[in-house]
Amino acid sequence: MLSFINFFMKNNELISKAQEVLNNNYQEKGFTIPCKGLYPFQWNWDSGFIAIGFAHFDMEKAQKEIKTLIDSQWSNGFIPHIIFHNETDTYFPGADFHKSNLSPLANNNVPTTGMTQPHVLGFTLERMYEIAENKEEILDFIKTTIDAVYTYSLYFYKYRDPLNEGLAYIYHNWESGTDNSPIWDDIWSTMESPQYTFERRDTTHVDASQRPSNEEYNHYLHIIEVAKKYNYDDAKIAEFSPFLIQDPLFNSMLIGSNQSLIRLYEKIGGNEDKIATLQAYTEKSIQSFNSKLYDEELGAYCHYDLKKNKLIRFVTSSSFAPLFAQVPDKKRADILVTTLLEKFGNEDQYLCASFDPTSERYKPKQYWRGPVWINLNWLLYHGLKKYGYDRIAERVKNDSIELIQKNGFYEYFDARKEMHQNNTAGYGGNNFSWSAALLIDLLSE
Ligand code: SER
Repeated sequence: MLSFINFFMKNNELISKAQEVLNNNYQEKGFTIPCKGLYPFQWNWDSGFIAIGFAHFDMEKAQKEIKTLIDSQWSNGFIPHIIFHNETDTYFPGADFHKSNLSPLANNNVPTTGMTQPHVLGFTLERMYEIAENKEEILDFIKTTIDAVYTYSLYFYKYRDPLNEGLAYIYHNWESGTDNSPIWDDIWSTMESPQYTFERRDTTHVDASQRPSNEEYNHYLHIIEVAKKYNYDDAKIAEFSPFLIQDPLFNSMLIGSNQSLIRLYEKIGGNEDKIATLQAYTEKSIQSFNSKLYDEELGAYCHYDLKKNKLIRFVTSSSFAPLFAQVPDKKRADILVTTLLEKFGNEDQYLCASFDPTSERYKPKQYWRGPVWINLNWLLYHGLKKYGYDRIAERVKNDSIELIQKNGFYEYFDARKEMHQNNTAGYGGNNFSWSAALLIDLLSE
């Protein structure tokens, strides 16, 4: 009994701290920065996860977060990855580098980037519905936002799927959300990007060894320059961008969001045409996903390089995201989970490293080259639950809570348990919003 009370008190304390992190990062204009210093604007997929956290204790802020993000939508349905609500020189590359107004379709009210991020808005709205006590009130809110989210889904099928496969491409590694994953290394090695003159700002906030290299930044900037040359025109980007990838995480988020939108439209009533459109696209996506992005030998989903016409054969935490969108059948899900446990699941590791810990490219402290991220763990937890792998799901959840309990609300964490003796194995930004938000959500389960 006593240990239950202790456990309860400890969790309550953690939830209060998480709420404090979110409230401190909330901005007057109605959005929440990912963390102070390092990320001073609104980020697309961060906002979705943050809204899920706020929904548990401040639904008004959760709604504002979504509303502010949607207000940045372009006329073709696209919702950008960063919304530059304010000016600051503490981040590079900022609004004056991205120059979204080169595109005739860009939002007229606020400068943004010309790229997007994994589509979390659909399942964010559904999670907000599940959390809300007042279902009528939240459904009213959803009615005012769902069509914008629907248009965002359709954007990918209309403009990001040149082969008409139901699979969206990303044209920049920042669109993947997994910025410096070793997945991209082979692309960088074939690119001859200019050496730009620029001043990194991220490395003034965070230890440079935990961030991408300057050489990688040259490639990141170069891809943006190519997109700018064509005024962010999707068809031209598909033709000329040196980076064109069908990403399993990105497409899982799109499918997962579509599935949520279908269920929400059903709750709202009417909208049969939109439901039918989403169903048709989603079925097509799932079919192509299974035939094109699955690697039998690795027993995992991989990224597909549309420029080289081949799979990039590495296993990352993105490889398991299809569980969240129920892409694999049960037999394939079993194989996927076996791969997860074999490569990432040793007892001396926290689940789930962002890159295959058995690979020589694994860098356990460097951003998306190895550390554990709470948002990917949240997706994995829900994905595993959907197939009934409850015991492994619990492990993912408990590992996430323990990592935060030991180190604080960091951006990412070392997966090696031996590194956690002094509680200093949280890396990147501290008081990081989505780590706080998703902890609140995980503890509510
Ligand atoms: N995460 C990127 C950065 O580090 C941008 O999305 O700046």
